[in-house]
Amino acid sequence: MAHGAILPETVSSDGARSFAAIVVAAGKGLRASQPLPKQFADWQGKPLVRHSVEAFALAGAAPIIVAIPQDGDALASAALDGIPNVQLVIGGATRQNSVALALEQLNQNAPDFVLIHDAARPTVPQAIIARLLDALCNSGGAIPVLPVVDSLSVDENGQMAGSADRESLRRVQTPQAFNYAEILAAHRGWQGDASAGDDAQVFLANGGRVTHVEGDEIMKKLTFAEDFLTVQPSVRTGLGYDVHRLVAGEELWLGGIKIDHSKGLSGHSDADVALHALVDALLGAIGAGDIGEHFPPSSDQWKGAASSKFVEHAAGLVAVAGYRIGNVDLTIICEEPKIGPHRDAMRAEVARLLGVDIAQVSVKATTTERLGFTGRSEGIAAQAIATVLKGQ
Ligand code: CTP
Ligand code: MG
Repeated sequence: MAHGAILPETVSSDGARSFAAIVVAAGKGLRASQPLPKQFADWQGKPLVRHSVEAFALAGAAPIIVAIPQDGDALASAALDGIPNVQLVIGGATRQNSVALALEQLNQNAPDFVLIHDAARPTVPQAIIARLLDALCNSGGAIPVLPVVDSLSVDENGQMAGSADRESLRRVQTPQAFNYAEILAAHRGWQGDASAGDDAQVFLANGGRVTHVEGDEIMKKLTFAEDFLTVQPSVRTGLGYDVHRLVAGEELWLGGIKIDHSKGLSGHSDADVALHALVDALLGAIGAGDIGEHFPPSSDQWKGAASSKFVEHAAGLVAVAGYRIGNVDLTIICEEPKIGPHRDAMRAEVARLLGVDIAQVSVKATTTERLGFTGRSEGIAAQAIATVLKGQ
């Protein structure tokens, strides 16, 4: 069978070996308190289970067995519509039962390797799949793990009764990869608790060798309701652009400072084209619309307000959205006035308005070689980009 090009030489070049995937999605998802069982609930625009099944399909896994609840057929079919090589199987009362049933289903056309995964972990990087399959060249099992960074305390009735050596402990994620025949035998022979946490435990108990590969925090399991709150990226970027006309008899406000010049910019408020571009960049970074939406010329609140007020307001919206400003970069496009002599004053003023260090603010300028409206000094254009970071 064909493997995705992303897979390592050791696996992808060997056409004789095949790998399948099992995605367990037969739980009730009670702790997540979603309108649907969590595996079918919407997460970032798709049913949760669809994310990982798509990742396995992309990697070339076939078939992909999805264990679903007893009455979950309609929901699962809708959630996985159009993904190739998907087969549904009714799961069991525990996760271990669900995996065992899916492994039996695979036995009709046994693959060499199988990746077993929780539907509750939507993000599966292709690099992890490749790493796991690679490790199977030397080991019957492979699991992604992460280090423990906090120190550990053994609890007894709310008191510390001892500690554990975090150096030798690892946090275990899924997908977990196995030699198919060996994991099937291990599940068939499992005498332990049916609520066994994961397949590596079952595999180890059967005498299997399990290799650790580096996991990824991005594979976190979604368990509680708060895990389903809008997941926001940790870094976001916004872009802004604005143009104002240069006319005689107006004050010239640019980058938050007043510049002595023969002409000034005309337009809404003080027409500070650089700050307007900056406001749009900030709003863009948090997906909060644009300057015209927030500060309509018709509104009494903002009528005649200095552009610095818009910047302060936009920076406040960034904070409300749970972000802080990483850096901003402005480009002013004009033939005149020369920006160089004013650059540091603009940076200082923008930094003050945003409540950041001057090192986080860049102001650049360029001409357009006397071409176009900026080249003829009919107007000034400005571009801005802003990067915002999650957390205060
Ligand atoms: N799972 C399963 N069959 C079960 C129990 C769990 O296939 N009988 C699956 C879940 O659908 C999930 C994964 O195992 O993808 C990990 O389990 P968990 O996060 O505990 O999910 P749920 O059991 O569904 O949630 P909860 O415990 O909150 O009810
Ligand atoms: Mg559970």
